[in-house]
Amino acid sequence: MCGVVGYTGTKQAAPWLLDGLQTLEYRGYDSAGIQVVSPSGNLHGVKCAGRVAALRERAASANPVGTCGIGHTRWATHGAPTDKNAHPHLDGTGRIAVVHNGIIENFQELKRELMAAGHEFRSDTDTEVIPHLIQEAFNGPAKGDLALAVRNAADRLEGSWALGVICADCPGTLVVTRNGSPLVVATTEDGAYAASDVMPLASVTSHVVQLNDYDVATLTADGTIVIRDRDWRVVESPGSFDIDWDASAAKMGGYSDFMAKEISEQPEAIERLLAGRLGKHGIELDELKLTREELAAVDKIVIIACGTSYHVGLVAKAAIERWAKVPVEVEYASEFNYNEDYLVTDHTMCLVITQSGETADTLAAARRMRGMGCNVFAITNVLGSTAAREADGALYIQAGPEVAVASTKAYTAQMIASYLFALRLALANGNMTPEEVEKHYHDFEAVPDLMREVLSRRWQDKQAARRFRDKVSSLFLGRNVSATTAYEGALKLKEISYLHAEAYPSGEMKHGPISLIESGFPVVAVVPADHVHDKTVSNIQECLARGAVVVAVATDGDERVAKMCQEVLWIPPCPDQLLVPAVSVIHLQLLARYVARDRGYDVDKPRNLAKSVTVE
Ligand code: G6P
Repeated sequence: MCGVVGYTGTKQAAPWLLDGLQTLEYRGYDSAGIQVVSPSGNLHGVKCAGRVAALRERAASANPVGTCGIGHTRWATHGAPTDKNAHPHLDGTGRIAVVHNGIIENFQELKRELMAAGHEFRSDTDTEVIPHLIQEAFNGPAKGDLALAVRNAADRLEGSWALGVICADCPGTLVVTRNGSPLVVATTEDGAYAASDVMPLASVTSHVVQLNDYDVATLTADGTIVIRDRDWRVVESPGSFDIDWDASAAKMGGYSDFMAKEISEQPEAIERLLAGRLGKHGIELDELKLTREELAAVDKIVIIACGTSYHVGLVAKAAIERWAKVPVEVEYASEFNYNEDYLVTDHTMCLVITQSGETADTLAAARRMRGMGCNVFAITNVLGSTAAREADGALYIQAGPEVAVASTKAYTAQMIASYLFALRLALANGNMTPEEVEKHYHDFEAVPDLMREVLSRRWQDKQAARRFRDKVSSLFLGRNVSATTAYEGALKLKEISYLHAEAYPSGEMKHGPISLIESGFPVVAVVPADHVHDKTVSNIQECLARGAVVVAVATDGDERVAKMCQEVLWIPPCPDQLLVPAVSVIHLQLLARYVARDRGYDVDKPRNLAKSVTVE
């Protein structure tokens, strides 16, 4: 989703703004722009529909000169992705420039009011009202104080925003503020920086400062950052954190795309996550911040998530119910938010699963759960993310930056993190002994090598991918936890290869989707060696009988499946059925990537998708 960068300092702003925007490409966008202000007060901007590479070309010939500036990647909400709608947007006098991530819900009434007062608009965006409002305040009540003018304008807004603002009358001053959309700032020897997330900042600093909703930060060229809260008091000790990965972790490092890199990083991610988690008294999960008694009292768990993280939730449910015997409901955040009749018990706990920690629907749901009196525990990948800061406790999966839009390593790391939580709960409520917990933990330790084994078999996925090259639709099947692997595999395939993929629990297939099957129709069946294996085999037969081409994910040595199916993606035997999803999904991640590449698509930046969906 939209990305914001800003800089003021001693260097020319445009080169870093462009580099910063490039590192934000992963968030998903369809146009981009920058605006700089020169020390003598000249604003100079370049913007265009399309990629940052196109913007670079335009900037190279336009050569915007200035040591203070803002930049933006736009993911269209209001108005098509055109040059005209790309940010930055200017006020009517052309002296104030604004970039914005979020949605202004009341922009229509503000626009009407501003137009009645003589303001003229040039774009179809909701954002454009903001520079006009700032200009009114700047020349009116704020009396030339840009930060105050930004605050006054923000007071009129409803919705969500992260704003970067520069003004020809205050060269060298960059003002940023946020409400509901992420924004971090950093100070360095050559100036001060702002960005939607730490990715662009990792190349210039390892320490970033977080802004709270409604904070307004004034950044000046000497690197000073003054933050004021909603009551206009200076924030003396703002929240901050160190970036715990090296800038090189967010680079491709020899891989042809980030997705390939991130798929390959899964074994190490799980090893990092597990390191030091087994203590004398079972699983060490101090992040939970609940006493054993409080944990033991939990009688219902609600898991809130979106997208791939929602699929983690489905597997987490199986683990928590099996090991800790606590009933779990898994809710799409966007649905939960509008279910007015949701019932919780006195001891319901909420588990929020979110890679980015910034998904707007998930944040809103977590806030609602807290409002209902529930303890909220977040599983997330991003240090200092809003979900982590607002939760009662947060477990970082430490998977390192995930850049490809399609989530892979966060999926498996979040899954194992939720398993650690399940074991901790099972120990607390007496459904597992310390010895049983230890046994499971050692089973988890086998996962990285099992993953490595699957990664070494990637040629199987490459071969199977050919079956999808000229297809328009496909079906993914599986039972129990393997149904979730089917959901996740189908999601991966449709996200990056634009090939329709529908996932169903195998047994449910005959109640509808079977009508899709005709000669050559591709079916992916996740059929590991487990207690429902034979049932799924019967469903595979039903598909084959109608001419389907079946690609199976099966356990080594499964002769029956090998004989029946046109392609088999083999997994090694796993010590616990609940670990199969973390291992088998790697085949489906690889399969999706190979299909997308065969079809000629950019696997890291699929069309229309955003890495972090910061609007509802
Ligand atoms: C977007 C991304 C998905 C992701 C989902 C939830 O839709 O494209 O890959 O699974 O958001 O993101 P989260 O950061 O909350 O896990």
